[in-house]
Amino acid sequence: MKKISIIGAGNVGSTTAFYIAEKNFSDVMLIDIAEGRAKGKALDLMEAAPVRNYDAKIDGSDNIEDIAGSDVVVITAGHVRKPEMSRLDLLEVNAKVIEPIIQKIKQYTPNAIIINITEPVDALTYYIWKKGGFESKKIIGMTGVLDTTRLREFISKELQVSTADTTALVIGGHHDYMAILPRYARVEGIPITQLLPKEKINKIIKHTREAGTEILSYLKTATAHYAPAAAIAEMVEAIIKDTRSILCVSACLQGEYGIKNLCLGVPAIIGANGVEKVIELQLTIEERQQFEESETVIRNAVEVLEV
Ligand code: 2OP
Repeated sequence: MKKISIIGAGNVGSTTAFYIAEKNFSDVMLIDIAEGRAKGKALDLMEAAPVRNYDAKIDGSDNIEDIAGSDVVVITAGHVRKPEMSRLDLLEVNAKVIEPIIQKIKQYTPNAIIINITEPVDALTYYIWKKGGFESKKIIGMTGVLDTTRLREFISKELQVSTADTTALVIGGHHDYMAILPRYARVEGIPITQLLPKEKINKIIKHTREAGTEILSYLKTATAHYAPAAAIAEMVEAIIKDTRSILCVSACLQGEYGIKNLCLGVPAIIGANGVEKVIELQLTIEERQQFEESETVIRNAVEVLEV
């Protein structure tokens, strides 16, 4: 069995462990700094195994050295937003949380592929990349997989069609400036621009952009975690099974889209080596503008980070 370590056994981390276990392709090591929390969650998850039919082993530890030998490390540690906060408000406080984690990954499992979820995702994915000196393809932020699953759900609800028939691409940053591309949102290959009037499409786009904030406004003390965890599990599966699926992720760009030294949401082939290839879309002027707005926001944000 392969080994996935998840750092942070909060809502996102433990739900991710559950989804991965149900897919039966990997053992999971849950890590949390709070004494007993990861162990308790892991025991609880394992006690569900006989009825949920998984053979994967889930273990928990408060000792980060237990990430040794991981194929993939998922970073979910850090503070979550409170209502009225933007994701970028967490930049400095969460950079401090993950700085020691980066050093431990380098020390104990330097060859693992790293998936970052800690907010603000794009900026902190860049921070992990630069601070850790990792190969660009081995560090990936979870962004567009979540935004596209939300968009697909809203399209399917509006059109009353199966979610399985929908596909979509969301690029740019995982924040208020994400670039949602209706041209690439399809139902069984048919662009939604042929199925829905412009005002309905705009409503769906707005809903997608605000979905995380909407959930936070209901939960108040927690952010969304089921859809984010499902998105992480999808990315982990692509890596572990080397499926080479095209997923929208925050990739560390090295000249693709004319951008260097920044991590930003783009479609990419995800496989055993992490980001196998960034897919460069031919964007219209308007789409390019949206993408560049994201680039500017993230570039300004990372300037305050010491890397
Ligand atoms: C969201 O969009 C947590 O940022 C995450 O729900």
